[in-house]
Amino acid sequence: MVGSADEVSPVLRVVQWTTGNVGQRSVRAVLANPRLELVGCYAWGPEKVGRDVGELCGLAPIGVVATDDIDALVALRPDCVVYNPKWPDVDHMVRILEAGINITATAGFITGHALGADRARILAACEHGGSSIFGSGMNPGFANLLGLVSAGLCDRIDAIRMLESVDSTGYDSADTERSVGYGRLPTDPELPALIERGTAVFGDAVHLVADALGVELDEVRCETEVAITTADLDLGSWSIEAGRVAGVAASWQGWVGGHRLISCDVRWRKGRTLEPDWRVEHGYIVEVDGMPAVRTRLEVHPPADFVAHSFSDYMVLGMVMTAMPAINAIPSVCAADPGIVTYLDLPLPAPRGWVSR
Ligand SMILES: NC(=O)c1ccc[n+]([C@@H]2O[C@H](COP(=O)([O-])OP(=O)(O)OC[C@H]3O[C@@H](n4cnc5c(N)ncnc54)[C@H](OP(=O)(O)O)[C@@H]3O)[C@@H](O)[C@H]2O)c1
Repeated sequence: MVGSADEVSPVLRVVQWTTGNVGQRSVRAVLANPRLELVGCYAWGPEKVGRDVGELCGLAPIGVVATDDIDALVALRPDCVVYNPKWPDVDHMVRILEAGINITATAGFITGHALGADRARILAACEHGGSSIFGSGMNPGFANLLGLVSAGLCDRIDAIRMLESVDSTGYDSADTERSVGYGRLPTDPELPALIERGTAVFGDAVHLVADALGVELDEVRCETEVAITTADLDLGSWSIEAGRVAGVAASWQGWVGGHRLISCDVRWRKGRTLEPDWRVEHGYIVEVDGMPAVRTRLEVHPPADFVAHSFSDYMVLGMVMTAMPAINAIPSVCAADPGIVTYLDLPLPAPRGWVSR
C-alpha cells in the first residue's frame, strides 16, 4: 500500500525559519517529501537574504529565495512554519500563530513553560489564529516520547529517568554552547544559573512527562555539574582554553511528595581531555523503576554509505535526528485543535514519505 496515504493527504505548504545546522536538514526533508512543499524561507542573517534556499543548504538552486520580510512570508499563507532559529523569538512566534499558521519547532519549545510569562502570549496567539504549536527535536522531544513508550510496559512506575550522554565536539553553534557555560572558569559563580537558563527547555520535558503520568508535581528543579578540559580545545569556529569548562551536565527533575519521580538529564562533553573524565554513553538511555524495571538504549550510527572526512561531519546525524521529529509531526500538528500541542495530543507521528523507492 505504499503511496496510498500520499493520494489522500493534501500537500502541506511549509515555510522554513532559518537555515542553520538543523534548518538545513529540515529543508532537505521538506524538499524530499512529496507531501510537503517548501514555499518560503526566513533568513535571520542579512547575508542570507535574497539567496536561493537550495544554495544556502548546499543543494542546487530550487527557486525559493530567503527573506527577512515576515509579512511577505505570512502572506504566502503556509500551513506550517518549521521553526529552527538559534533562539526562540516570541514576537515572531506570536505573529506566525496569530496569522493562523501552525508551527513545528526545535527551538527551545516543548510545553512553553520555559518561556515564563510569554507562554500566555503563545496560547493567546494560537486561540486568536486558530493555530497550534508543537516543539520537539531529539532531546528534549523524541527522547521523552521514548521514555513514555518505555513506561507504557509498567503497571507500577516509581521513577523515570531519561539521559542524553554524548560527546558534542562537532556541534558547531558556539553561542548556543557558551549559553550553557562552555568556556567559563569552573569557579564562575554565575555557572549554575547560566546552565539552568540555557537548559530550561528540559524543564518543559519534565512537565510533559508529568502530564503523561497524570501527576501534579510539587516542584521542578535543576541540578548542574561541570568538568574542565586539561588542554586547549580547537572547536573549529571557536575554542576553549585549558582549565575552562568543556563538560556540562544538567539534571532537570520533577519532585512529588519528597520523591524524585522524573529526571531529564543531559551530560555533554567536548574532547578527550576532560577532568573528571566523564563516561559517555554515546546515546540516550531511559530507565524506568517500577514493575517491571525497564531500560531502553537508543544509539544512532552512520549508514553504510556514509562518507565522512572529519569528526564534525558526523554531527549531521544529530542534525537529522533533531529535525525529523518536528518534520514528521507537520501533518498532525496542522490537523490538531488550536493551542500548544505535545506528543500527548497527537497521533503517533508516522515517519511517512522516507522509504526510498
Ligand atoms: N531538541 C533538540 O534535540 C535540539 C538539538 C539541537 C538543537 N536544538 C535547537 O534547534 C535550534 C536550531 O539549532 P541549530 O544548531 O540549527 O542552530 P544554529 O545553526 O546555531 O542557528 C540557527 C539559525 O539561527 C539564526 N541565528 C543566528 N544567530 C541568531 C540570533 N542571535 N538570534 C536568532 N537567530 C539567530 C541563523 O539563521 P540564518 O541561517 O537565517 O542566518 C542560524 O542559522 C536551536 O534552538 C537549538 O537549541 C534542539
